[in-house]
Amino acid sequence: MRIYHKSSELKSTVEELKTQNRSIGMVPTMGALHQGHLSLIKQALDENDAVVVSIFVNPTQFNNPEDLEKYPRMLETDVELLKQLSDDIMVFAPSVEDIYGTDVESTSFSYDGLEHEMEGRFRDGHFDGVGTIVKRLFEIAQPDNAYFGEKDFQQLMIIKKLVEKYEIPVNVVGCPIYREDDGLAMSSRNIRLTPAHREASPFIYKTLQAAKVKFGTESAKAVTDWVESEFAANDLLELEYFIIADEQTLKTITEKTNSNTYRGFIAVYAGDVRLIDNIALN
Ligand code: PAJ
Repeated sequence: MRIYHKSSELKSTVEELKTQNRSIGMVPTMGALHQGHLSLIKQALDENDAVVVSIFVNPTQFNNPEDLEKYPRMLETDVELLKQLSDDIMVFAPSVEDIYGTDVESTSFSYDGLEHEMEGRFRDGHFDGVGTIVKRLFEIAQPDNAYFGEKDFQQLMIIKKLVEKYEIPVNVVGCPIYREDDGLAMSSRNIRLTPAHREASPFIYKTLQAAKVKFGTESAKAVTDWVESEFAANDLLELEYFIIADEQTLKTITEKTNSNTYRGFIAVYAGDVRLIDNIALN
């Protein structure tokens, strides 16, 4: 297992691999790795000759300073987990300075409107930060394939748009949501849940599943109203938003048509921990 702290060092290793025609897979993460991350990394190991896992808590994508400060950092534990998967993984764990120099700012991107929906509405500047770091990581590691989870479905669509718009030669692969046995989507933030909030949190996926069933026979508005009323009656979980959106445009729908596919998207506060999830509706 080799850990790179400097982008220049990773870049030269990668360039050597390229001259040997070896394919490179990349899994960008912010660390505090769990089975959800590991499922992406396993797929990358299966499909590429070499794999880079980046671990970098990217400051420019946090709109809330307290969230950034409290974000779990545990590089040593992460490296141990990765070793159990393969000794060949290249870990990229740069400093903020290595990535940004002294100017910790994001570039502004247009993703044809995808950035104005959901997370973009509630987390100002978030996707500029994500685009800035992912573009930079792609420049350094030059992957053939890059793996992103459907857990952050909007992020996945935005990265696909970024790659298309900037003609970045990388194949973006979407991977299914990995869940705890009780249905809670795995997230690095879950370890910050209090026992009571952890116990309450499977309600999120249960409600999404029930919403999917209802969507078979009811209107998007009726399903949305129902989800809102379910959360209004829950003392421990506070709904930030639930919307039903077109999978391609991410725009909230008012009417279903047969030709489009839809997803339900949700963001919930469990105490001060913000959880997101989503479900395919057809
Ligand atoms: P992070 O939250 O660490 O997630 C890294 C990758 O793992 C993302 O593609 C995310 O969608 C995926 N992932 C997280 N939990 C998952 C789960 N339960 N099932 C499947 N995939 C899951 O997303 C980020 O970091 C950052 O925004 C990043 C892309 C690294 C840019 O900083």
